[in-house]
Amino acid sequence: MGNINYRADCELVTARALEELFRAAGLEGRAGDKILRAFKNSPIVRFAVAGDRLIGACRAITDGEYHAFMYDVAVDPKYQGLAIGKELISRVLSELRVWRVMLVADAKVQGFYRQFGFTPYENVMAKCDRQWLFDNPR
Ligand SMILES: CC(C)(COP(=O)(O)OP(=O)(O)OC[C@H]1O[C@@H](n2cnc3c(N)ncnc32)[C@H](O)[C@@H]1OP(=O)(O)O)[C@@H](O)C(=O)NCCC(=O)NCCS
Repeated sequence: MGNINYRADCELVTARALEELFRAAGLEGRAGDKILRAFKNSPIVRFAVAGDRLIGACRAITDGEYHAFMYDVAVDPKYQGLAIGKELISRVLSELRVWRVMLVADAKVQGFYRQFGFTPYENVMAKCDRQWLFDNPR
């Protein structure tokens, strides 16, 4: 698989590479420049790169004092199972100097997050407007 490098900025990352990564990883609803802007607007980003190919990503937003939220964790299926996801999460967590980090995880990946100390958390509410995303896809 060659050398895998980790990056902490968006400098060499393109919207197209992100779009392809998320499509390959089965995470829908991330398209065009919108997904690149989301990463650029996040204070903490981590990417895994093999050669010039983007093979992994994740990001977090935080107030830097109390809270953080992680989003958009994905590893290219061809590179899954090589501890790349673990490395990305570890690198983001090491930057977050807050007491509570939250994320949304499907049942099938909750086991992955448990190894870092994440557990289901009950008093969470969310206001979701899928129509807004539908109307503003890119
Ligand atoms: C979930 C994901 C990021 C994991 O990345 P990865 O690079 O394949 O995982 P790693 O190789 O770093 O795995 C590290 C450890 O977690 C375990 N693990 C990986 N995926 C797991 C899963 N779905 N459930 C439970 N454990 C899992 C591995 O077995 C490994 O255990 P070990 O250290 O004891 O050997 C990756 O599978 C992915 O991109 N999935 C599709 C997109 C997705 O669902 N993202 C999460 C959105 S919330």
